[in-house]
Amino acid sequence: MASGWDASAQAWIAVQGDDGDFGRVHVLDAPMLAIVEQLAPARVLDVGCGEGRFCRMLADRGIITTGIDPTAALIDQARALHPHGDYRIATAEAMEVEAASCDMAVCYLSLIDMADLDAALARIVAAIRPGGHLLIANLTSFNTAAVHVGWEKPLLGEPRFPIDHYLSERPVRTAWRGIDIINHHRPLKRYMQALLSHGLMLTHFDEPPATGGPPDKRDRYNRVPNFHIMAWRKPA
Ligand SMILES: C[S@@+](CC[C@H](N)C(=O)[O-])C[C@H]1O[C@@H](n2cnc3c(N)ncnc32)[C@H](O)[C@@H]1O
Repeated sequence: MASGWDASAQAWIAVQGDDGDFGRVHVLDAPMLAIVEQLAPARVLDVGCGEGRFCRMLADRGIITTGIDPTAALIDQARALHPHGDYRIATAEAMEVEAASCDMAVCYLSLIDMADLDAALARIVAAIRPGGHLLIANLTSFNTAAVHVGWEKPLLGEPRFPIDHYLSERPVRTAWRGIDIINHHRPLKRYMQALLSHGLMLTHFDEPPATGGPPDKRDRYNRVPNFHIMAWRKPA
């Protein structure tokens, strides 16, 4: 099944703009950067880096970055905006990265895009040095179980955000603002069990709220499950 990312690349670049979209600017960037600053990695591998926004933010902080993404038009944009950066076209499942070569791997809203979670995690974990970290921002499974339905607005009563078929792993088509892609819904246990099976240790978990942006959008965001952040440590 095609992921839709090649056809959606230009719309994605437009939606991110100069700074990033609502969820990045007003929800995830600050707590993600706080963890990076706390763990102080020298080398970061950003898997599913898109048009390179987070790599540029890390490079601005003196971190050596490698960005991996299968969507050629997004890697072209990443290279154009960060000519000295290291950007490579590959899926997480098939990327060839030197073993134990990074202090931290980052998956910033990209695990949901990876069709084969086990193959992807095997390569990601292999790229992290012993004692290094895996930093994840992901759409929560409670959200991806609802995304095909979205907000229901009955004639009477409160809008609802219904969850259905929570335990069934499946591809889910999702479309907004010219982007039309496949995400993969997996129950939370699927991610947790896969990460635990690599011997990783959970060191941080959060469901950060939106803290800025237009108040109506912030309040609507904070009503339902959206993103979570996890940091895992690979045993030394
Ligand atoms: C939601 S975007 C996030 C991009 C970037 N991390 C950011 O936060 O702006 C998901 C990214 O995952 C990439 N992607 C899709 N399938 C992938 C795979 N199998 N392995 C790695 N990345 C993948 C897409 O090309 C896209 O750039």
